Amino acid sequence: ISQTGVTPPPMGWASWNSFASSIDHDVIKQQADALVSSGMADAGYKYVNLDDGWWQGDRDANGNIVVDENLFPGGMKAMADYIHSKGLKAGIYTDAGKQGCGYYYPTTRPAAPGTGMEGHYQQDLQTFQSWGFDYVKIDWCGGRVEGLDQETQYKQIAAANEAASAVTGRKLVLSFCEWGTGLPWNWATGYGDLWRTSGDVILWGQKPTTAMMLTNFDQGLQPAAQHTGSYNDPDMLMTGMSGLSAAQNRLHMGLWAISGAPLLAGNNLASMSTETRDILTNRDMIAIDQDPRGLQGVKVAEDTRNLQVYGKVLSGTGKRAVLLLNRTGSAASMTVRWADLGLTSATASVRNVWTGTDVGSVGTGYTTTVPANDAVLLTVSGTEASGTTVEDTTAAAT
Ligand code: DGJ
Repeated sequence: ISQTGVTPPPMGWASWNSFASSIDHDVIKQQADALVSSGMADAGYKYVNLDDGWWQGDRDANGNIVVDENLFPGGMKAMADYIHSKGLKAGIYTDAGKQGCGYYYPTTRPAAPGTGMEGHYQQDLQTFQSWGFDYVKIDWCGGRVEGLDQETQYKQIAAANEAASAVTGRKLVLSFCEWGTGLPWNWATGYGDLWRTSGDVILWGQKPTTAMMLTNFDQGLQPAAQHTGSYNDPDMLMTGMSGLSAAQNRLHMGLWAISGAPLLAGNNLASMSTETRDILTNRDMIAIDQDPRGLQGVKVAEDTRNLQVYGKVLSGTGKRAVLLLNRTGSAASMTVRWADLGLTSATASVRNVWTGTDVGSVGTGYTTTVPANDAVLLTVSGTEASGTTVEDTTAAAT
């Protein structure tokens, strides 16, 4: 397996989880401001991504998409300009089919009318680029209803992005959102920068749960596809949404970090607690997620009681991130063995990410108690025989 990760997974904030399709210029401005004032931007969260809800539902005589000027009075270029003025990057939303999801599944406001970008791929992407956007998420509700083929459409979109770039000189990060239905990990590398691997982590109006995180985490593990700077996307974060404890928020970040997943916060940043901010900006956690090697963690050991050990190869030599995941209803003693991580040293040094404690040098492996339905996130530093990777040990350990 080649390990040539080139760009780290995107980090930022996206509007859907907290605002659904009720977005406007002021909402986005407030969140962009909070991304900066909270310190999240300094920690690496740079994208401000508008999701569904920005368009008016028509095209003009030239086929250009019309913006809802009631919601975005200055238009979308003004929105992107504002986001850029804060030192941030701007993301926008569309659909690969004729309509977006809000048209079929209205949530917080009457059905959003068409229009997705089918028939206008290059035109719309060029429009987004000329407005100054840096990133686009391409949903699949229209595509699904029309029975389109995922691989065909998203590859056309990637080509249209290139063609539009040749005109505008700008390029959009492409976020494919067909929920894993077309197995994008088999074909999206080199076309999309990130692709969703599952359905929504939370549906509008639901209470966030640990089970939701675990479902999307499991479906997001496609490590063979994540070696090139393209990323499996288990969806936006629920961290900080009402109903989650601090432990659940940490678990969520641990699962996403060991996955090397995009970190797109979905909570309302303007009303976020300091505790949530500290969890989202934990430096060790972010370093694991953003590691330049760009890999995904893999399961290196598991026992029949649903106690799972995940290891992620980090850049450098002998460096690993480890997630001890207890999926049972009782606290359990769990061990990660250096051999399971492909480490050859008798001892390795261990750091507990969430307590910020250096445990020090430990022989053979590290054992700790993991609470019920929770996880412990570690970094481990030892030595390895050259060419050894966690991947090589996976089959033997499970
Ligand atoms: C479905 C996607 O999976 C969500 O992330 C969100 O973009 C909604 N559509 C918007 O309608």
